[in-house]
Amino acid sequence: MKTLVVFLLLMNVSQHASAVESYEGDSFVMPCQFPKDLLLDPTVVWSRSDLSPPTVHQRQLQGDELKDQNQHYSGRTSMKTDALETGDLSLNLTNLQLSDSATYTCSVTDFRFGYKRLADVQLQVKERFPSWAKALLVLLVLLVVSGGLLFHFRHYFMSVPWVGVDSGVESVQLICKTTVCLPKDAKVEWKDEDNRKVHVYENGSEQPEEQDDKYKNRTKMNRNLLEPGDLTV
Ligand SMILES: *[C@@H]1O[C@H](CO)[C@@H](O)[C@H](O)[C@H]1NC(C)=O
Repeated sequence: MKTLVVFLLLMNVSQHASAVESYEGDSFVMPCQFPKDLLLDPTVVWSRSDLSPPTVHQRQLQGDELKDQNQHYSGRTSMKTDALETGDLSLNLTNLQLSDSATYTCSVTDFRFGYKRLADVQLQVKERFPSWAKALLVLLVLLVVSGGLLFHFRHYFMSVPWVGVDSGVESVQLICKTTVCLPKDAKVEWKDEDNRKVHVYENGSEQPEEQDDKYKNRTKMNRNLLEPGDLTV
């Protein structure tokens, strides 16, 4: 009679499947119970049928028996010391890896009943930072960096400086400064928006013959080529 009760109890707890999600690097406790004190010299095995060897953790009366343990789980599994007395056969799996995602089976082999499957636990390990989040982060960093660069070198991208002047004013100075020293034979050309030559300076002297008629005798450029750029119209 007692045997029948035990058998029914075991039937009751078996084939219980649960799905749980966890993150990389965390630890997770996979639940498994059995009616305490009812088994005779049991061997509890947590296993993954898709692995070879399939054993993830093994517990006997004498304690953990890990010689058949799959290398992948070496040093990452533990069960409560009093698991066989309390019936709490939960497995603590630490330092979760993506490859730990699988279905785990908690089973017991008992002198009286033989093999009994107690629980199936489906474990899904997720990346803490999924690849789309990493990509987003990289994109943000790039945006910030390029924004900073653009701001720092904004003079190079800025549009044409604007000088407002009323007609009839005698002269206006248009400024253009070079950041490097120009060689002696450098050619400096001022052009207007219609590509007419306003002023040409080459080989250390002005070149009025190249100048557009419209600007004849109306321009003057600063002699000092180290800081060129005074043009009077
Ligand atoms: C699982 O094991 C780790 C490492 O020994 C421990 O830090 C953690 O507290 C354990 N988790 C539980 C729920 O016992």
